[in-house]
Amino acid sequence: MAITRRRFFQGAALGIATLPLLKTFASTHQPFQHGIASGDPLADRVILWTRITPDADPDFQQAIVPYSWEMALDPQMNQIVQSGQGVTGPQVDYTVKIDAEGLVSGTVYYYRFSSNGKLSPVGRPRTLPEGHLSRLRLAFCSCSNYPAGYFNVYREIARRPELDAVLHLGDYIYEYGPGGYGTGNNLGRDPIPAKEITVLQDYRQRYAQYRTDPDLQEVHRQHPFICVWDDHESANDAWKGGAQNHNDGEGAWESRRNDAIQTYFEWMPIRESGIIDHFGHKTIYRRFRFGDLIDLFMLDTRLAGRDQQALPLDVKVAKDPSRSLLGLDQEQWLHNGLSQSMNEGVRWRVLGQQVMMSQLTISQDLPINMDQWDGYQASRQRLFDHIQNQGINNLMVLTGDIHSSWAFDLAPKPHFPHYGRISGYGALGGEFVTPGVTSGFAEKSDLAKVGSAALDGVLPNLKWTNLTERGYVLLDISHSRAKAHWYHVDTVTSRHYNHYLL
Ligand SMILES: [Fe+2]
Repeated sequence: MAITRRRFFQGAALGIATLPLLKTFASTHQPFQHGIASGDPLADRVILWTRITPDADPDFQQAIVPYSWEMALDPQMNQIVQSGQGVTGPQVDYTVKIDAEGLVSGTVYYYRFSSNGKLSPVGRPRTLPEGHLSRLRLAFCSCSNYPAGYFNVYREIARRPELDAVLHLGDYIYEYGPGGYGTGNNLGRDPIPAKEITVLQDYRQRYAQYRTDPDLQEVHRQHPFICVWDDHESANDAWKGGAQNHNDGEGAWESRRNDAIQTYFEWMPIRESGIIDHFGHKTIYRRFRFGDLIDLFMLDTRLAGRDQQALPLDVKVAKDPSRSLLGLDQEQWLHNGLSQSMNEGVRWRVLGQQVMMSQLTISQDLPINMDQWDGYQASRQRLFDHIQNQGINNLMVLTGDIHSSWAFDLAPKPHFPHYGRISGYGALGGEFVTPGVTSGFAEKSDLAKVGSAALDGVLPNLKWTNLTERGYVLLDISHSRAKAHWYHVDTVTSRHYNHYLL
């Protein structure tokens, strides 16, 4: 029988343990194998995250693991302003999430955790500013499929000290097993577990694998994240009642969806608002205010209220006014929030969301992709009507999902003459679409270039597109202008790459 530490001490207390010590009683175990992260900054608080990896040595395993955390004004952690302690355990997969409160707005803080006598790295969040704000810089990205390549894009975002926050617009993980998507490139990044993930333990293992990546750990350490899920955090082309990639033999969708949501809240630095939707699920749509400059609305176009996708070419269903992409609760919340933002004099309204809002249509009536807003035209029209009727201005929509770079005018009827293609007359705002971190859309080829040019000719609302590169978008906003800069990397299948502004 193995002598556990507890058994040894019990025995020692009784004076009957005579076995020699075979190991020192100081574990060399490193508890912070998945890094640290911060997220959802508000003016007075920010989420701090870590995971304490359980000790693999049975002599040191504990059902409940204690930790402490501290927050300071300096990276040397001398001027401590907040601290605390707690315990974590298997019910939350040994993750730790702190909502550090009582902070000062517009301030850079530093934080770290400690457990098992070890210190975590030091991270750096920034609280949201209040009052007048002259300039803000956000990076936004999406679609970070671990098997598809190295996270060179995260590495580059981590290197930008000027960022106030990073928005991740979804597909932070992918659910597929080996051979499912983006594998086969011999990078040693095959998915773990080696199967499609469908239940809680699978989802937890998948996040754990992603978070061992040094570039992902570094970008979380450097910047606070504001995240929303897309479909692959649960299953491809998810909607409120199912998913394209949820099939017979994979159990009930409700159960899979609950497991995916639970793991997301365990592993992502996101605040749990406590708002529950009609289905009894936690919601993630929420708002952030950056001084008098920006109201940022983060949307959930997947699980909160999306009706099932229309079949290809089924324009009748795509136009059905009873269908919604956001669900009626979220639509109402967004419309009210946009009006309130105007009334309170905030300069810009920014929507961080998953699927393309602009029309990707050959003619007004023929959508190419029913999974995006084109497949929910009444839902989009209700939003456009509200924007027009309420005179809502200075609107930007930030989008992920499609693994390629696009800039659009948000035009209610881009194929009609009263939209001014050159002047932008009739446009309600702009839409900026980020390429994937590693997920691709088209291979680099002359055909892809021709395709970009052809799209530009066919779509009056399209200002520019690039279909082949991976990267992210830097949004640089002041009171007088907003600029989106597309940064691309030339490869994700090598650690040696070039990074450039288009
Ligand atoms: Fe994706």
